[in-house]
Amino acid sequence: MRKPTIYITRKIPEYLLEPFKDRLHITMWTSESKPVPKDILYEEAKKADGLLCLITEKINQAFCQYASHLKIIANMAVGYDNIDLESAQKNKIIVTNTPDVLTETTADLTFALLMATARRLIEATNYIYNDQWGEWSPFMLAGSDIHHKTIGIVGMGRIGEAVAKRAKGFNMDILYHNRSRNLEVENELNATYVSFEDLLKESDFVVSLVPLSEATVDMFDKKAFQTMKSSGIFINASRGGVVDEDALFEALDKKIIRAAGLDVFKQEPISSTHPLTKLTNVVLLPHIGSASLATREKMLKLCLENIDLVFQGKQPKTPIY
Ligand code: GLV
Repeated sequence: MRKPTIYITRKIPEYLLEPFKDRLHITMWTSESKPVPKDILYEEAKKADGLLCLITEKINQAFCQYASHLKIIANMAVGYDNIDLESAQKNKIIVTNTPDVLTETTADLTFALLMATARRLIEATNYIYNDQWGEWSPFMLAGSDIHHKTIGIVGMGRIGEAVAKRAKGFNMDILYHNRSRNLEVENELNATYVSFEDLLKESDFVVSLVPLSEATVDMFDKKAFQTMKSSGIFINASRGGVVDEDALFEALDKKIIRAAGLDVFKQEPISSTHPLTKLTNVVLLPHIGSASLATREKMLKLCLENIDLVFQGKQPKTPIY
């Protein structure tokens, strides 16, 4: 019997593929670091029965119509704003993502980013590298406390909940805003559900973990930053599209808010000439939320398992619809 052909849009290690090779004919793009060019993606998708892709691939309506023969698209991410779900569904393509396996790792990074921003760790490191460390002085690199402050989490899904647990360990008060109430965090972590506006007004740390959708695009805009405390710190570990970056730049530059820690940007990758890199009150990371070796392996394994199950006529583990 012919094995289904799978195209993977990056080069991934052989040891991850090995367990699936009996049942799947696996082909992949030649680079680990560079995305597959669009023409090659189209060419390879035509020959494939299933696709394992990354957030760098735009799986839009045109692609779904062109590749409607695909049985499954396994997205190596929990977020799936790179995929036009309606078109995929219309073309009867199963779409899966990678929830759960990355929750704790992404929460770790989110909290690390919050701490690095509050305590000015990158500026502090650069002090040494740039020979700025003179005599010790009372307010040298004085940052913001984290313990006993108020964190406001926008988007109380799995990762939000894992961040809230970390915040609890720092004796923080937890506010959250979400499409629906999360009674578990209310009961177990004493988190309080508030309106978006109240969260912005009352939080020392505003943390975005909200997925990008039509409803959330640019939700952190000029008005949102003006509503935040002037001592407030904004952290974004979800998607750059939820932030109006010009408004954020202005808020940081004019000290309308104190600082921001960003793992995600509207247009990725950003370069060293991006306006935000000119500010000292930011910590900028290249979208590494789930980037621990173990978690990245788990994400790829889950994608391959989903594909394998679908070609065995079974339900994938983590379908999106
Ligand atoms: C990464 O950003 C993801 O959605 O998993």
